[in-house]
Order: sequence, then C-alpha cells, then structure tokens
Amino acid sequence: MNWIKVIAENELPPNQRKVVKVENRSILLVNQNNQIYALENSCPHMKVSLEKGKITDEGTIVCPFHRSAFEMSTGKCTAWITFPPGVSKVMGMFSKEKDIAVFPTRVEEGNIWISV
Ligand code: FES
Repeated sequence: MNWIKVIAENELPPNQRKVVKVENRSILLVNQNNQIYALENSCPHMKVSLEKGKITDEGTIVCPFHRSAFEMSTGKCTAWITFPPGVSKVMGMFSKEKDIAVFPTRVEEGNIWISV
C-alpha cells in the first residue's frame, strides 16, 4: 500500500469536507462524526464533483445533480439517477449503475493519510 499524507487532522474538523489532489486524482475527504472517508470526487454518471453532495446519517453521499447515492465506506452505489422524477428512469436506462472508488484512511501524528 502506498500511504500519502494529505492534510493536517485539524484542517478537517468533524462534519466538514475538503477536496484534495492526490496523484492527479481529485479526492473528497469527509469527516463524519470523527470517521474520515476518502472518496473519488467524481460521480460516475456525468463525472461531476460530489463535494456539494448531501451526506446522510446512514453514511451515504448523494450526488447534487441527479441524486445517485454511494456508501462512503465502500463506494457502493445505493441509488442510481433518482432525479428529476419521471425523467430519471429513462436517464438510468442509458447509463449503467457504477460504484465510486474509496480509499483507506488513517490518522497518525496529527495528519490524515490515505492509501491510493
Ligand atoms: S451526475 Fe451524478 S447522478 Fe447524474
């Protein structure tokens, strides 16, 4: 595993998020109740940023565009293109449901590390 130090722990307080660049990838760091997640910052539907996505109590992030949802711990897609109503079903027929990449994280000596 290739661990990379990304930011200081105090740059990501609880219930905040931050986008970082790691090896040419845009990674969204999320601190949800002191659990740190590192997610590929790109919705697999149209490659838009997930930075402004809603985070649920169940630990999923919802794409701000067409509301596909992904588990932050595994990257698994739990809902695919659910918005706008009516049109979303048709849109979903033309693109295959995909998961997002997630990366292991650890906090050590006051810094957040991810493995890519
Ligand atoms: S861009 Fe994310 S669901 Fe369409």
